[in-house]
Amino acid sequence: MAINKHKDIIINKYTEYDEDARLVRDRGHNIEYLTTMRYIQKFLKKGAKILEIGAGTGRYSIALAKMGYDVTAVDLVPKHVEIMKSKTQQIKNFKCAIADVLDLSQFDDNSFDMVLNFGPMYHLFNQKDKKQAIRETLRVAATDGICMFAYLPCASFMTGYGLRQQCVSHLYSAMDKTGRVKDDPSEVFTCFYIEDFQKLFAKSNTEYITNVATDGIAYAMQEWVEELSEEDYQAFLKWHFMTCERLDQQGFSSHLLYICRKK
Ligand SMILES: C[S@@+](CC[C@H](N)C(=O)[O-])C[C@H]1O[C@@H](n2cnc3c(N)ncnc32)[C@H](O)[C@@H]1O
Repeated sequence: MAINKHKDIIINKYTEYDEDARLVRDRGHNIEYLTTMRYIQKFLKKGAKILEIGAGTGRYSIALAKMGYDVTAVDLVPKHVEIMKSKTQQIKNFKCAIADVLDLSQFDDNSFDMVLNFGPMYHLFNQKDKKQAIRETLRVAATDGICMFAYLPCASFMTGYGLRQQCVSHLYSAMDKTGRVKDDPSEVFTCFYIEDFQKLFAKSNTEYITNVATDGIAYAMQEWVEELSEEDYQAFLKWHFMTCERLDQQGFSSHLLYICRKK
């Protein structure tokens, strides 16, 4: 499929979707936000310059700008950038623009202390584009800068999304015999086996830090999470934060976060 046709599919999908509500919709989604924010804050240094790529309507970027960081947020979808602009007119340390992760030429090499690639990897279907997205993300990061990449693991793609959305046959037909999503589908989302994602960094100038199950089992079991008393929910959150870097939590997490340092 031609690249622009695929880009149009992504833009149309998000133009119709209410991305702004996603991370605050319920506990199952909010856990992804809380966990990701913990890791961002764990690695942020005072005065850091941050770039978020695939920033959506700015849930992370605007919160970070309000904490005083110098934040630039880019997204492929014009509607998302418009929403970010309308929310940030009074915030001087926040900039946003339309950009495709595959071409970040509007930014110089080594220009950000932290680069958050938070969505584009869900939508890139061939190895060339996946590698290009990583190369561009790392290029604009400063030496010793922290880069974080959100991605979707194959197991939860089928068990969480497939079962929940009742689209198992459709997802199965989009996969090859090894359970990997085929290279060039007219699909919107793609997923990774964890080892395949890690291999994309094999020849990069990075030091691996960790891989985090940002929502663990919370999205797949969101009705049950929703029903927990406040006391049980707080205990569940503590357990999740305590265990979310463990290998045995990762496959069934709905989202994963790969964290590395640029050397
Ligand atoms: C699921 S949303 C995530 C938004 C936000 N970063 C968050 O974590 O909540 C994925 C975002 O990636 C953006 N995106 C998809 N492909 C992209 C690309 N090639 N370049 C830049 N942004 C892209 C989408 O427009 C969307 O806003």
